[in-house]
Amino acid sequence: MARAARILAVTMGLLCLAGPTFAATTEVPPKDIHWSFDGPFGSYDQEQLQRGYKVYREVCSSCHSMNMVAFRNLGDPGGPFWNPKYPNPNDNPVVKTIAKDYQFPDVDSETGDAIKRPGTSADYFPAPFANPAAARASNGGALPPDMSLLAKAREGGADYIYSIVTGDRAEAPHGLNVPAGRYYDPYIAGDLGSFWKGDPAKTPPGGFIAMPPPLVEGRVTFDDGTKATLNQESKDVAAFLQWAADPKLEERNRAGLGVMIFLLLFAGVLYASYRGVWRDVGH
Ligand code: HEC
Repeated sequence: MARAARILAVTMGLLCLAGPTFAATTEVPPKDIHWSFDGPFGSYDQEQLQRGYKVYREVCSSCHSMNMVAFRNLGDPGGPFWNPKYPNPNDNPVVKTIAKDYQFPDVDSETGDAIKRPGTSADYFPAPFANPAAARASNGGALPPDMSLLAKAREGGADYIYSIVTGDRAEAPHGLNVPAGRYYDPYIAGDLGSFWKGDPAKTPPGGFIAMPPPLVEGRVTFDDGTKATLNQESKDVAAFLQWAADPKLEERNRAGLGVMIFLLLFAGVLYASYRGVWRDVGH
């Protein structure tokens, strides 16, 4: 009897430990968007990457760094400004102009004075804040994550990024107590139970995010004349961030296709030689 009680006590204890994981996160799964880079033959849509770059540059980059991407990467094969005329992206005039727009701290090689110099294609995108503490101080205590690998680091990838920036605009459900400096987003993981005044069974899905809705219709002007709806801007920036996180996707898909063709041809050759070898042997 004592043994049964002990087992019961241990089981209850374990259940209590596991409890909080049961209670948590109720976010809505990201919207399933159709992307040009989906599937084994997918590739990036270069015009979309250029539009997405513009959204990153003019909007997201004021809070989110992208410190693993160098300017020259923009001109790599498959990148937003790849141009076969400039196989070496360091020569690509678009890349050079983009880099020159930024100023980098440097040291004058003659006087040793601290100076600023214009960026070159070899520089990396500079972070908008000097350090994480400064970034938090400007964002209500929350750290805007670096965007270099965001699309790979989050389940749902580009779908997730698209959903967060569009969902961020969602009207908070009536009866939800939204703390100051926080925004309701159905796609972000959270547990809103203690902020919900209504029936606990009807607690809204999602959570709060410290990012003010970054995009609205017409937030940027696209150079190719595409209408800058919220949907378009969000899709384009998500595609751009997917590229930033996975710039080798096209190369990989091409290699995969090559391997498949090789295997097919090889299977043909094998079959032909099999027929050849056994030609004169009766069955
Ligand atoms: C005013 C500053 C600001 C701007 C501009 C901004 N963000 Fe954010 N973003 C934040 C902060 C702060 C967080 C972290 C929020 C949190 O932890 O609650 C965040 C978080 C995110 C997340 C969720 C990341 C995660 O950890 O899962 C995504 C996705 C995102 N931002 C995308 C974007 C995109 C795309 C843009 C440009 C269109 C953008 N942000 C512009 C401040 C900003």
